[in-house]
Amino acid sequence: MLNFDDDTSATLPHRAPRTLDAGRAAAFGGIGAGALPPHPVHPDAAEAGTVPAGFERVRVEDKRVINGTADVNQLVPFKYKWAWDKYLAGCANHWMPQEINMQRDIELWKNPRGLTDDERLIVKRNLGFFVTADSLAANNIVLGTYRHITAPECRQYLLRQAFEEAIHTHAYQYIVESLGLDEGEIFNAYHEIASIRAKDEFLIPFIDTLTDPTFRTGTPEADQQLLKSLIVFACIMEGLFFYVGFVQILAMGRQNKMSGASEQYQYILRDESMHCNFGIDLINTIKLENPQLWTAGFKAEIAELMRKGVELEYRYAEDTMPRGVLGLNAPMFKEYLRFIANRRCQQIGLDPLFEKADNPFPWMAEMIDLKKEKNFFETRVTEYQTGGALNWD
Ligand SMILES: [Fe+2]
Ligand SMILES: [Fe+2]
Repeated sequence: MLNFDDDTSATLPHRAPRTLDAGRAAAFGGIGAGALPPHPVHPDAAEAGTVPAGFERVRVEDKRVINGTADVNQLVPFKYKWAWDKYLAGCANHWMPQEINMQRDIELWKNPRGLTDDERLIVKRNLGFFVTADSLAANNIVLGTYRHITAPECRQYLLRQAFEEAIHTHAYQYIVESLGLDEGEIFNAYHEIASIRAKDEFLIPFIDTLTDPTFRTGTPEADQQLLKSLIVFACIMEGLFFYVGFVQILAMGRQNKMSGASEQYQYILRDESMHCNFGIDLINTIKLENPQLWTAGFKAEIAELMRKGVELEYRYAEDTMPRGVLGLNAPMFKEYLRFIANRRCQQIGLDPLFEKADNPFPWMAEMIDLKKEKNFFETRVTEYQTGGALNWD
């Protein structure tokens, strides 16, 4: 059986590490911004006399995930097929929040006896974290990560991922609006609720590193900083900080409560699982191409960050579940978070952090295995506007 976050789209190719041509990397400033690279003339092209001097066709062996010098505007020849495959899988999983019927959730929420106070707290805290978390994720990709990644296949996936983050923010906003919640309360929770603020404050320095306009890769220190931020983003933010919330809302759906919100979360979980797996492939490929970055000190630092992440997410579990609710309680999450942290460590080649940690929620595996076609024909409430609907007048 698949695990809750198994990667089913692609496997990581193992390629021999290459030495970075420092001179050419410097010419790009560590950022594949789209300027044409100053390559020597390709012999065939020179004969034809159709291209300016200084041009060379992209060669697979010149492509690198960071500090690459090959033209980032040319998607092919493919080198990082795993990234392209994930881009295709992401597109095949496309969905929109308005396609999910929220009527039963609205009735349940408005019924004074529909949900307990503890269940209502879970919904509000969940939305309080997620309404801003996915904006942080989108900004991190668009204003940060994207600039520093020089493989066009990976950039193509990041563009898809950024749009999916926008869809997630839309989904959370759509739930807030459908239920008629206090927007000010929900959207300010990341300032006003300590357990949510603590998670975001942990993330901000790593996002700031990547979005700092003066930050450049190309030195061992800077490349380690980039790698650390990528690990925090994929393995701790998307790979750990989302999971208490996902389990809570999906547990509600399993009990036939908030079934529309739960369905939205199921689609989001599937997307996030892919984001996390892409991030892990990205991290492992950077490690393969730059083995000098993976030092003992660096590994110890990552392990410490993972421990801190587990602690913060557990505090969030306690804050959102002051008592047992929905058959869940905070102590169950202690083991779950340790299980996830061990798995993230193993996925990026670190030793497990916690001795005995099993998955207390094996049903989460089924949640990701959803067939869009089946679900959507049952629940679809809107149609996409297509080109045929455009008015040129
Ligand atoms: Fe997201
Ligand atoms: Fe994501």
